Amino acid sequence: ERLPELLRGMPKAELHIHIEGSLEPELIFALAQRNRVAIPYASVEELRSAYAFSNLQSFLDIYYAGASVLLTEQDFYDMAHAYLARAATDNVAHTEIFFDPQTHTARGVAIDTVINGLHRACVDAQKQWGLSAVLILCFLRHLSEEDAFATLEQALPLRDKFIGVGLDSSELGHPPEKFAKVFAKCRSLGLRLVAHAGEEGPPAYIWSALDVLKVERIDHGVQSVHDALLMQRLAQDRIPLTVCPLSNQKLRVFPDLADHNLGALLDAGLVATVNSDDPAYFGGYINENFTQTFAATGLTAQHAYQLAYNSFEGSFIEASQKRVFQ
Ligand code: ADE
Ligand code: ZN
Repeated sequence: ERLPELLRGMPKAELHIHIEGSLEPELIFALAQRNRVAIPYASVEELRSAYAFSNLQSFLDIYYAGASVLLTEQDFYDMAHAYLARAATDNVAHTEIFFDPQTHTARGVAIDTVINGLHRACVDAQKQWGLSAVLILCFLRHLSEEDAFATLEQALPLRDKFIGVGLDSSELGHPPEKFAKVFAKCRSLGLRLVAHAGEEGPPAYIWSALDVLKVERIDHGVQSVHDALLMQRLAQDRIPLTVCPLSNQKLRVFPDLADHNLGALLDAGLVATVNSDDPAYFGGYINENFTQTFAATGLTAQHAYQLAYNSFEGSFIEASQKRVFQ
């Protein structure tokens, strides 16, 4: 079978990866020891066996607990370096990495510690593997817009170390409109804009991410299939969707990978992409997302080329750079 080889070997961009979601249980335990942080699991195996989720919130609870071992700039560097090394072996040529500063500043970690550690790993990835890596700061939507503004203010002295902002965490009950003012401010600063929408939430959240927040890309967006007018809008404006199939399976957005609508999104002409979301928690990095999804749904080599092309089209790299890959 040649398709898995094609999927693994093709150059690709990853546009939806939460760096805290790349923290493997082994590294959680190593950092807990290094920093003398107590964690409520006796072993790596016991921790990994807790990774059984029923929805987004059940995952987020354990994901935020895992991040509590991160304290120093070196911790953030080590986490990002491990992800970037893994991405390089998956033939990722460019990656746009989400990070959640509020998860760390709430524990007393300075935002400079977070951003400087992650950024240094991105600089080194370019040197070591020729892998281009940039950072996108995400606001936690379960917190207030005031808290998001405070976070933006803390991050602005490091403005040259991240290219944009996103919106993540608990979607239901926290519509994009809640963050209208802070996104308007970020837009005026020239930051690139993305938001999670339509993962568990309704198509209305995708509409407001586009029309109120004015985002350039939708993270997940798989619920758009329930709104024909929205599908038209996404196709016409070539709004990329950063789809994460294994995440959707593990968080029960779809009962089974075979039920995933990636093929329907592509066949409707949408700029859908494949991404890993939180690979340490969902059982696979980007190539595993490609190979398992293609095996389960019967997508073709034509879909594979389209997905690779879309990943560069949907990225925030310069148009001149994109042509190198496309
Ligand atoms: N944070 C990390 N992964 C997430 C996801 N899939 N949805 C919302 N917030 C997240
Ligand atoms: Zn996500």
